[in-house]
Amino acid sequence: MRMSVIGCGYLGAVHAAAMASLGHEVIGVDVDEGRVAALSRGQAPFFEPQLDDLLASGRATGRLRFGTRIEDAAGATVHFLAVGTPQQPHGPAADLRFVDAAVDALLPHLRPGDVVAGKSTVPVGTAARLAGLVHDRGATLAWNPEFLREGWAVHDTLTPDRIVVGTDSGAAGERAVAVLRDVYRAAIEAGIPFLATDLATAELVKGAANAFLATKISFINAMAEIAEAADADIALLAEALGHDTRIGPRYLGSGIGFGGGCLPKDIRAFAARAEELGRREAVGFLHEVDAINLRRRDRAVQLVVDALAGRVFGRRIAVLGAAFKPFSDDVRDSPALDVAVRLRGLGADVVVTDPAAIDNARALHPQLGYTSDRDEALRGADAVVVVTEWDEYRRALSPAHAGSLVRGRVVVDGRNCLDAAAWRAAGWTYRGMGRR
Ligand code: UDX
Repeated sequence: MRMSVIGCGYLGAVHAAAMASLGHEVIGVDVDEGRVAALSRGQAPFFEPQLDDLLASGRATGRLRFGTRIEDAAGATVHFLAVGTPQQPHGPAADLRFVDAAVDALLPHLRPGDVVAGKSTVPVGTAARLAGLVHDRGATLAWNPEFLREGWAVHDTLTPDRIVVGTDSGAAGERAVAVLRDVYRAAIEAGIPFLATDLATAELVKGAANAFLATKISFINAMAEIAEAADADIALLAEALGHDTRIGPRYLGSGIGFGGGCLPKDIRAFAARAEELGRREAVGFLHEVDAINLRRRDRAVQLVVDALAGRVFGRRIAVLGAAFKPFSDDVRDSPALDVAVRLRGLGADVVVTDPAAIDNARALHPQLGYTSDRDEALRGADAVVVVTEWDEYRRALSPAHAGSLVRGRVVVDGRNCLDAAAWRAAGWTYRGMGRR
């Protein structure tokens, strides 16, 4: 099937490459010439496992092209909208200017019967508004939210947990559902659930899923606060909770909390939209989820200050991690970098290291020290803070080796990812987040 993908950032680039790998003929359109040039060369403009391979094979088969001209989207059966919906500069709501611009640009190129499938995360009600514009051109709008995680984007796009497609009722909507079933036929045949809904429900599924995941993380981090006060161990508590099949073990990782380009801004936008709909009380807990999350960053800084007996000024602190999570070079709203910045604000000599995110981190916070060499970061450090649970720190760093490099054997485990007993046995003062 011929398809276009409008917006080739994280979501769009991966979607375009994944669709081409299924045999579809795909044109990815983006206004950013540099990004289009990189993608056309077969290079991912950001760090994402497996994406380079998909881009290369898409290029080799001729099924995947990228360009800056929206008119190149003309003639496609399905147009996926994959532009960003950042947080507004001065408020919690989503900024829809890129979605609106993409639809405006696409409208003149739509043919009757075309399907426009929205993938961006939008406030509920957006699709109904856009549907009218698309309908005026004889085309149909569907909402097909994307649930991919950075670092797992290719896997999540090709084998999602479920596929959701929302449309208006009626023949045109049914036809759009049939077209999208065809797009995702391989996944559906492999047994992945396909749910057809109305437009508003499809939009809400994404917001609700993000809200639930953020709540689960903040729940365990709230329990970590209690565990700290009660001298209990959050890692053991989470393990025991996770065995309850009604709860499940995933997203119970305690530590400095969630960040990135999605969860923080999406839950704020979700709450803002609920308030617009007159349902402020229904999402009051999301403000608490946000507050718990931000408190964990304060707590990590406090643990470092305590471990250094309050003497932080001028001390050298090795910060292991900058990305908001492993397998990513993304530093948007990164809890790791936030902790580093706060320690620097207290006058510490902070050296940040990360296997993938140093360049992005330096561009955002040039006041911090950086090295891509982990051992260089550790050399002479008075304290070590692990803030992104890369394997390089979690598995590959032995406490004995680290101990041979540092000046003070003090480690704060902001992700509860180290073997506390092994570090203590090697003579380290180990402090976890909610661990004894
Ligand atoms: C998230 C959603 O998972 C995805 O479905 C949605 O489409 C976009 O937002 P992403 O931001 O890529 O994806 O990352 P995710 O793996 O969900 O992690 C988000 C943040 O939560 C990270 O900072 C991570 O470190 C943190 N996290 C995750 C925890 O603190 N504990 C956990 O147990 C899991």
